[in-house]
Amino acid sequence: MSTLEKIDINNTPKHIAIIMDGNGRWAKKQGQDRLFGHNIGVESVREVLKGAQEANVKYLTLYAFSTENWNRPKEEVDGLMNLLVHTISNEVDELNKNNVCISTIGDLDGLPGDCKAEMLSAYDRTKQNTGVHLILALNYSAKWELMNAVKNITQKVETGQLTSSEVNEECFENELTTKGIPDPELLIRTSGEHRISNFLLWQIAYTEFYFTEILWPDFKRENLYEAILDYQSRERRFGMVSEQIEKNS
Ligand code: IPE
Ligand code: IPE
Ligand code: MG
Repeated sequence: MSTLEKIDINNTPKHIAIIMDGNGRWAKKQGQDRLFGHNIGVESVREVLKGAQEANVKYLTLYAFSTENWNRPKEEVDGLMNLLVHTISNEVDELNKNNVCISTIGDLDGLPGDCKAEMLSAYDRTKQNTGVHLILALNYSAKWELMNAVKNITQKVETGQLTSSEVNEECFENELTTKGIPDPELLIRTSGEHRISNFLLWQIAYTEFYFTEILWPDFKRENLYEAILDYQSRERRFGMVSEQIEKNS
């Protein structure tokens, strides 16, 4: 029985978020520069997207560039932006053919103009698609997102569009870049690091975490299935006790 066949297709996470980490270390091991690792990492993105399609995952959020990543050497940052523009422009036809909708979260205005334009055009071309929704976190920071939400809500209260007693979780979520997207049930981080690195702080309040030592360029479809299987072996209690969960299932 293949790993995919072992997955209970009716209980796959609707939304999986991935912190794709380890490209630099992978490249170093091969005696190559860091950009080589990022290039090969694109193949893992293709793999994981196909895996998500096969395993009935509806939303796939990939952490591609954090606001902190601007602090890397200029050569690497430029290389990453180029890679992004070229990958999206090369892949958008295929993504469209596969009914994938592609969008971004993060501060697009802070990206180089060609990068922003490419992402907006890819979104425009694929927004009607009903297959997997691929969300790229680009120039993303969870703290930035949360601060923005607070500012927008404050402004709405100040201008009388909202009263302070109307401020609740729902209106807060409407100010997040993930508006309309369900919270991820599963978050994967590769490369053996056990931290969140400013990713989706609000949205992961009840997410299951899966950490693997595998470096991102080595992460393939099969590894995604293993993560899903691990997720399916867990009991999500949401503060309740086991007996209540069994009764409800
Ligand atoms: C993840 O790999 C890709 C990005 C952050 C853009 P890294 O580049 O962080 O690789 P390591 O962690 O240095 O090995
Ligand atoms: C997190 O990885 C950001 C992305 C995967 C895009 P980093 O490699 O930048 O995270 P830290 O700096 O090790 O926490
Ligand atoms: Mg890293």
